Amino acid sequence: MNVLGIESSCDETAAAVVKDGRKILSNIIDSQEKLHRRFRGIVPEIASRSHVEKINAVIEKAIQKTGRVDAMAVTVGPGLIGSLLVGKMTAEALAWAWDRPLVGINHLEAHLFSALLDSPRLEPPFLGLIVSGGHTHLVIVEDFGKYKTLGQTRDDSAGECFDKVASMLKLGYPGGPAIDKTAKLGNPKAIPFPRPYLTGSWDFSFSGLKTAVLYYLNDFPEKISNVEDICASFQSAVTDVLTHKTFLAAKRYGLKKIAVGGGVSANSELRKKFNIESRKSGIRAYFPSLILSTDNAAMVAAVGFYKHQRGISSNHLQVDPSLPLTNWEKSSLPFSLSPFGERGG
Ligand code: KG4
Ligand code: ZN
Repeated sequence: MNVLGIESSCDETAAAVVKDGRKILSNIIDSQEKLHRRFRGIVPEIASRSHVEKINAVIEKAIQKTGRVDAMAVTVGPGLIGSLLVGKMTAEALAWAWDRPLVGINHLEAHLFSALLDSPRLEPPFLGLIVSGGHTHLVIVEDFGKYKTLGQTRDDSAGECFDKVASMLKLGYPGGPAIDKTAKLGNPKAIPFPRPYLTGSWDFSFSGLKTAVLYYLNDFPEKISNVEDICASFQSAVTDVLTHKTFLAAKRYGLKKIAVGGGVSANSELRKKFNIESRKSGIRAYFPSLILSTDNAAMVAAVGFYKHQRGISSNHLQVDPSLPLTNWEKSSLPFSLSPFGERGG
């Protein structure tokens, strides 16, 4: 089954065709990074306008050489409301015109399963770590559509923390890749930034660490010349916490596999630490390729395949900017079957 995935929840306009949930036939990503850079963050109005301008061309490119499309999937949340609506309305119009089944996908779920596309043998159960610009979630994935969230961030997400620290250091937006690159030239032990472990809870908290960097810069303005060491020390603190808590949870819950997803999963230090811990513990860590770490539509199409396989689809979707991660049985009732839907009233 060829599934066309559409993703427009944030600042990437993306479309992809994936065969049987695993094989990428096309993967088109049009990033708006340049449009938002001068604002040092994403401007929602600019994002949705750009999606409107780009989405048709991106989809056309994705389906050009892939042959038939059997079913469709689109991100319906969480994300920016205007951006989500562009994807949803385009997907609904195409599903109607082509007479194809459509399914709504949770963006977090798509990140959870993005490693599947590079690891044909990866199957649930596994422990999932989502580290993106908006979220930091530790989730037990019992099966497709069956989740138990152990913890999440109480304040800033890991990606947000990277972006804000990069902004303090005037490294530009998005901050993660810039810090990753600069940190390679620095000493990770130069500055002992705090490690917020929150012992006894699976939650995360990164705002204190961000403030510690800010205080460091205020107290020692002369040290701003030492940007490499600051980046390396900050990155070391974030990745220590993510690695320690994730492996501890995997051991506690007896899970032998960990899958990481979201923009911060592209971080080279995080990958290195997970690999080292993996060798020590015998717990296997799966990462998506770099292009699938950040936002893309292939991961949306992959999850879409498994949802379609279970007979879940609806050609009338609702977007939700703060959509929580929920199990399929409860959350995915087709709109037309709801008491308030077409057949209800
Ligand atoms: O998953 P994503 O593309 O979008 C959201 O769903 O939010 O994640 C974007 C985030 C940004 O905060 C960006 O700075 C971060 O991922 N990021 C990185 C790296 N590449 C992207 N953070 C650390 N190291 C990287 N190499
Ligand atoms: Zn994302």
